[in-house]
Order: sequence, then structure tokens, then C-alpha cells
Amino acid sequence: MIIDYENETGSEVRKPLLLIVDDDRNLLNSIALILERYDYYFITCDNGTEALSILAEKDIDVVISDFRMPGMTGLELLDRIKKINAEIPIMLMTAYAELDIAVEAIRKGAYNFIIKPINPELFLNLINQAIEHANYIQIEKNYKEHLEKEVAQKTRELYESLILLNDLSNEIVKRLTMAAEFKDTDTGEHIKRIGLYASEISGELKMPSGFVEAIAFASQLHDVGKIGIADGVLLKPGKLTPDEWKLIRSHPLIGAKILSNSSYPKIKASEIIALYHHERWDGGGYPYGLKGEEIPLEARITIICDQYDALKMRRPYKPPLSQEEVIEIITKGDGRTLPEHFDPEILNVFKKISSRFEEIFNSYIT
Ligand code: C2E
Ligand code: SIN
Ligand code: SIN
Ligand code: FE
Repeated sequence: MIIDYENETGSEVRKPLLLIVDDDRNLLNSIALILERYDYYFITCDNGTEALSILAEKDIDVVISDFRMPGMTGLELLDRIKKINAEIPIMLMTAYAELDIAVEAIRKGAYNFIIKPINPELFLNLINQAIEHANYIQIEKNYKEHLEKEVAQKTRELYESLILLNDLSNEIVKRLTMAAEFKDTDTGEHIKRIGLYASEISGELKMPSGFVEAIAFASQLHDVGKIGIADGVLLKPGKLTPDEWKLIRSHPLIGAKILSNSSYPKIKASEIIALYHHERWDGGGYPYGLKGEEIPLEARITIICDQYDALKMRRPYKPPLSQEEVIEIITKGDGRTLPEHFDPEILNVFKKISSRFEEIFNSYIT
């Protein structure tokens, strides 16, 4: 009788609750005896007004009401209940002689009628039918809730797909930058590290999470323009000629061109970083010789990350340097690199968290 819609709809199964309304105490008692014997849940009352207040408070599944009662009649009660809840099955109890009234009740929306005197077997049968009907109504309601849950579930799945897509785009970044840098770096680890250093610095600068997330992604693409530089120049073990330098110095412009006109904020950030990551705070960088805060913050952060990592690792033109040597070059200068190249605030952050840089370097190495 009780339908298990747990599996279909994920809803709680609830035992149906009946409301029996009759001014005849003896009849109520005999109905109660039958229902108790078969383990039904029910509430009884002896007038329509009380029935309505019970209906307002309790979750009644089926109403069984006498026809003739002092005060509100069964038919009036039917009308009132229908106005409040049109779906609840209502059965009216009537004597055989009043069958015409019972027919009118059906016309007004009663679910069924029960003829007095009550035959227990028939009575239970009719009640079970009504309960089943109530269950179907409940299933329909639950189905709506089920749909809502389904929407929530699909939203979650969509979110998970977005995470996958994010992984996918990270992998594409890695492969794209490797295409550009395979030439002068061993693996994609350098790229990953730049993103990690840049987010560390941004976090220290208390930048909003959107900025941190964007720079973690975008800084990895800073050297994508090296894809346009001939291997003979990029892989040259020794010093570069002035013409070769001219070629190298075009890699920010090439990178910015590759990344230009995107509508994705993270790619826009990549374009900016690619274009300005060799600009120096003192105005001595390239391609434009911008100075101080003319240089976008993202690029001011990335340059120090890039230089730290380039110094730490082996390049075709240089051996790897120790942490002490690298810190010395960045904070005190070596003639080629000078502290004046960096935003002083960012340089201070670098000094403060340089051991974190070393941890990142040592964790992402092949
Ligand atoms: P990269 O190897 O990724 O280096 C990035 C930046 O790190 C360099 O930008 C420079 O600021 C710093 N850096 C790298 N190695 C050293 C070093 O030994 N000493 C100091 N003080 N700083 C260093 P920069 O100078 O604008 O160079 C841009 C790119 O040009 C380099 O990217 C690299 O691909 C290429 N490059 C630079 N110097 C040479 C070289 O002597 N030979 C060759 N074949 N390529 C070079
Ligand atoms: C170099 O030392 O190879 C170039 C110096 C520079 O312009 O950073
Ligand atoms: C900031 O803009 O929040 C600090 C970084 C800087 O401009 O030096
Ligand atoms: Fe570069």
C-alpha cells in the first residue's frame, strides 16, 4: 500500500494520516477499532469546524466525513476543504436512502462515498483506494521536487565539467609554452613554477582572489612569443650579437600578438604579461622602456619570478646558480641585473618570501 518512492524521487516515505469526522461517537469508536486493528494513523473529531482546524495543522492525506452533522454538513465541509486543498481525497459516509445526495457530493469533487452501516472489509478497501490516490498526488508533488533536485545535480555536474575544462586549459597552456620553450628549457616545470611564484607574491600584496587566480594562469604564458625566435638564436650557448638581441627583444611583441583580442580575462592578462614582462621599474627595459607604475602590476610581479627562475635553472647560455647567488643578483645586482629593475614593494615581498620561492623551485623540478 505504501509506495516506496524513495528510489524514484529521493523523498521520505510517510505513513498516510486519515481524518475521520462524525458526530456519532459510537460510529467513531467502531471505525477507530477497525483502523487500529490494521495499524492506520488517524485522527477523529465530531464536527466540521474542528475538522478544518485539524486540516490546517496536520498533513492529512484522506478525509472521511459523515454527511449529516449538526452545524456544518458534510457537503459544506467538502466545499470548504476543496477551496483550501483541491487535491485531498474526501469520502462522505451516507445512508443508502441518501444515495442521491452522495451522487451530488461526487459531482462536487468528493473522491468516493461510504454507505452506512459500515462493512469493515468494504470500508478498508475504499480507504486503501483513497490512500493510493493520495499517494499518486504526493508522487506528482515529489516529482516536481525531484526535478528541482535534478537541476541542482546537473548544475553540480556542470561545475565539475568546468573544473575539468580548467585542467584542460592548464594542460594546453603547458603544451603551448613548451612548444615555445622546449628549445631553451628542459620541461614544463619552469612554467608551472612561474605561476606559483606569481600567486605567492600577489597573495602577499593582498590582491583579490580573482587577480591571484588570473596571474597564476597568465604568467605562465609570459614567454610564449619565443615560439617566433629561431632555435639558432635561442639555443646559442654563448653571447648574442646585437642583431640576435634585436630578434630576442621581439618576443614580448610576438607573444602579445599571439594572445591579442581575446575576450577571456585570463588571456587578456596573459597578453599584458607577455608584452610587459621585460619592462624595468627604472625605465631600462623593453620593448617600450616604460617606467614605474606605467608598467602593469601583473608584469612587475612576473619579471621578478621569471628572473629568479631563469637564474636558478640551467639555460643553454648559463649554468644553474645557487639560491644565495640568485638572491645576491636580484637584491644587490650583478651589473646585468640591478635592484632598480624591480618595483621596490615587490622586491621587498620577494626578500621576505624568497625561501618560499626556493621551496617551489625544489618541489617542481624534473
Ligand atoms: P630567459 O633565459 O628566460 O631569461 C629571462 C631573464 O632572466 C633575462 O631576460 C634576464 O633578465 C634574466 N637572466 C637570465 N640569465 C641571466 C644571467 O645569467 N644573469 C642575469 N643577471 N640575469 C639573467 P633578458 O636578459 O631580457 O633575456 C631574455 C631572453 O633572451 C632570455 O630568457 C633568453 O632566452 C635570451 N638570452 C638572454 N641572454 C642570452 C645569451 O647570452 N645567450 C642566449 N642564447 N640567449 C640569451
Ligand atoms: C647579456 O648579458 O647577454 C645581455 C644583457 C642585457 O641586456 O640584459
Ligand atoms: C599594489 O598595487 O597593491 C601594490 C603593488 C605596487 O603597485 O607596487
Ligand atoms: Fe621573456
